[in-house]
Amino acid sequence: MLRELADSWLTDCPAPLRRLGHAYAATACAARGRRCARAWAPHRERTKAAIRAAVAACASRRTVLVLGSGPLADVPLVDLTGRFGRVVLADAAHPPAARLAAWRCRNGPAAVELATLDLTGTAAALTDPAVTAPPAPGCTAFLDDPTVDLVLSVNLLSQLPLLPLAAALHRWPETAADAYGRAIVAAHLTHLRSFRCPVLLVTDIARTTLDRDGRVLEREDPLYGVALPAGAAEEWDWELAPAGELPDGRTLRTRVRALRLDDAPSP
Ligand SMILES: C[S@@+](CC[C@H](N)C(=O)[O-])C[C@H]1O[C@@H](n2cnc3c(N)ncnc32)[C@H](O)[C@@H]1O
Repeated sequence: MLRELADSWLTDCPAPLRRLGHAYAATACAARGRRCARAWAPHRERTKAAIRAAVAACASRRTVLVLGSGPLADVPLVDLTGRFGRVVLADAAHPPAARLAAWRCRNGPAAVELATLDLTGTAAALTDPAVTAPPAPGCTAFLDDPTVDLVLSVNLLSQLPLLPLAAALHRWPETAADAYGRAIVAAHLTHLRSFRCPVLLVTDIARTTLDRDGRVLEREDPLYGVALPAGAAEEWDWELAPAGELPDGRTLRTRVRALRLDDAPSP
């Protein structure tokens, strides 16, 4: 508990994003990651391997942009700093682990920058009392940076709707939740597709809650029905909540897809 309080306090997260709950969410997620380290290890290694493959296929290596960098548990930072001149870590909240990792790279071969920003484009309006309806999502961050040669969206997409949706429903209970979630997911895909360089998307696509005997209790689409582009992809399971995390012996498993958007035809 004390560790979580200190982590939240030391998390780089500007006021509107903190008000929306991003610092708390980042701290809770890092704590869960520590508790579930063994169960999450295969997923983390698969994500890192997908990133390394995308880096190896990338011809030009000026800037790599990492969206959803978080505590960097899924991101092979040393590989990135060894191959790119500049590494931009973009997230709504940079926990101490990420700040420390970036600081350790200060004399390394690449410039490592922390960009703290809202990738849904909704946070400022959602926390503005003068705004009277849920804001339309959308983000253009880094589209004007011609040095970006690779974009990585790392286990971020399904997280994007969570806090804006909660805030919108709190302020405007009549909000069409599924439609708003769908719009936020679709807006991130539009953002990714707008880059003129290779893009790797790693995201969970289908969640299943199982009872203690492995029977399916519930299925959930974390992408609100938004279809990902077809194309060369790999998939694996991630034991998001292994035995002991949830009450009544339930477990939560999610299917993850790693997809190169530059390889993918439009849906
Ligand atoms: C599952 S974590 C990603 C883990 C990370 N890739 C790693 O290597 O440890 C999801 C991340 O999405 C970030 N996030 C959620 N909503 C965001 C938003 N609106 N803008 C930017 N980042 C956001 C969270 O802060 C969190 O770090």
